[in-house]
Amino acid sequence: MNPWLNQLRGRFLVFDGPDGSGKSTQFRRFSEAATRQGIPVCEVREPGGTMVGEAIRKVLLEYQDDAHGEMDLRCEMLLFMASRAQLVAERIRPALQAGQLVLADRFISSTLAYQGAAGGIPISDILRVGQVALGQTWPDLVVVFDVDERTAAMRLNPLLDRMESKGAAYHAKVRQGYLDQAKNDPQHYLVVPSHMDADTVFADLMAKLAARFA
Ligand code: TYD
Repeated sequence: MNPWLNQLRGRFLVFDGPDGSGKSTQFRRFSEAATRQGIPVCEVREPGGTMVGEAIRKVLLEYQDDAHGEMDLRCEMLLFMASRAQLVAERIRPALQAGQLVLADRFISSTLAYQGAAGGIPISDILRVGQVALGQTWPDLVVVFDVDERTAAMRLNPLLDRMESKGAAYHAKVRQGYLDQAKNDPQHYLVVPSHMDADTVFADLMAKLAARFA
């Protein structure tokens, strides 16, 4: 039993990290643990999670048009944020109001790492757009699963989609983007090293969350 899990009712937690960090496995395990404890959990994933969002997700992950060039980075950032605005309005805000634990697989921390730290859009620009998209609904805590590029690459499927095929240098910038966010806002971020096996990472995650919420 983990009585501290009860502190998470009506709170908003994000699980995030570079591709291959294993965050989705930890997300599933944590969601199951909270559900077993009787906590109502609202799971959302990005990009997507609503009908509009799934349509945007399809554009983002499949857009490839050699004749017309790559999608502009600011267009990409705004699409991620548009999907997020819908997700907040349609799913996250109502769930929080109903006292549920909202668990998000990726959120604005992904945009700050991928389009910001790695892509080069100024962090302050992304945060300004974020203010418009999210209003008052910001995460209580962002858990960053931190993994070195080599481990991440080995975990990734060789059939990479557009976002995942950008190479090691890009991944290193994404990783640093997450670590910088955590360093600059330790109150809202938690870093969990995730190069070990899933059981070890999960035990560490639970210990760190318990220390925060107990
Ligand atoms: P996907 O395979 O759908 O999800 P995941 O890697 O979480 O299992 O890939 C989503 C990709 O989109 C991933 O490479 C990260 C990227 N992304 C951004 O670049 N910016 C964002 O704001 C979000 C939410 C995701």
